[in-house]
Amino acid sequence: AAAEKGGWPSFMAKEVAEEPEAVANTIRGRVRDGAVVIPELDGLDDLFTGINRIIITACGTASYAGLVGKYALEHWARIPVDVELAHEFRYRDPVIGADTLVVSISQSGETMDTLMAVKYARERGARTLSICNTQGATIPRESDAVVYTHAGPEVAVASTKAFVAQITALLLLGLHVGRVRGSLEDGAASVAELEALPAKLAHVLESEQGHVAQLAGWMADTRSVLFLGRHVGYPIALEGALKLKEISYIHAEGFAAGELKHGPIALIEPGQPVFVIVPSPRHSALIHAKVVSNIQEIRARGARVIVVAEEGDAAVLPFADEVIRIPLAGAFFEPILAVIPLQIFAMALATAKGLDVDQPRNLAKSVTVE
Ligand code: AGP
Repeated sequence: AAAEKGGWPSFMAKEVAEEPEAVANTIRGRVRDGAVVIPELDGLDDLFTGINRIIITACGTASYAGLVGKYALEHWARIPVDVELAHEFRYRDPVIGADTLVVSISQSGETMDTLMAVKYARERGARTLSICNTQGATIPRESDAVVYTHAGPEVAVASTKAFVAQITALLLLGLHVGRVRGSLEDGAASVAELEALPAKLAHVLESEQGHVAQLAGWMADTRSVLFLGRHVGYPIALEGALKLKEISYIHAEGFAAGELKHGPIALIEPGQPVFVIVPSPRHSALIHAKVVSNIQEIRARGARVIVVAEEGDAAVLPFADEVIRIPLAGAFFEPILAVIPLQIFAMALATAKGLDVDQPRNLAKSVTVE
């Protein structure tokens, strides 16, 4: 097993280190003449032109990738997208039919809840497309089309490289569908953003790993951590919290930053650690200002604020206890970078607590029962 880990202390550490490669491999072969063209979807344009809505279905981490995908798909392809946990979708008599494309996301391709949702969608006449990391798995076999993520085998129970590959595949899908439907405007710029991602991921790993691991070491006795995000930072907050629960057994919750005043702010007491994913002010000065004002609100109540913000964003400095930097990237590409420090944080905290990061208690890598 030590050899399989290639010198890394855990599969999770190895898989985090492989993230730049996972993203690069998922993009490879899917850009033609400055546009995203997914060869597996050749001749399947009617999957995207003959529909009026998309439902993304998945469980756990894959569902958070789906939420990022919703924002991107709606923006680029101008089509309504809902994200539904597979086990809820399947049991609530949803309104679906031939005008619906159901996109499932699964690393293993064997998750029973997701498989049952796909089968159910097909029985109801919907078209189905799967985003999957495992060649020839059951979910892609049960779907009309498949777009593989090429993250390579993921062994650690906590998903890391598959998650960034899933978001990458959803961005590719959004750009492909936007082009096919004729709604895409900033295609070439987005392709440039995609191609720049692997190097930026490598940069985050290099520049922040030590800093984040040190933070986690200081926080080994923490009993609860909150995560806030807005726009595509919201699913990243959810994912940061899930990682921490899964491998560090620490109570963690992710919130949409705008929800704070609707309840969660009552949780803030002196010393409460809160991670805040701050979107770039270059994408939307308004969204950025709203998140900075959320930071001020929690700081005023004594929260210990750890900010994930783009390089050069000075507005966060007066209110942050710690600042983790990520490189500049387009709005929909930023979450792929922002999640890395959260994955490293969870891994380092679990390690500081002496836990087995690859095999957390009570969990299985793929949940093949309903
Ligand atoms: C991720 O860290 C989890 N272990 C879990 O939420 C996982 O993403 C979920 O069970 C879905 O698995 P799948 O992608 O193989 O379908």
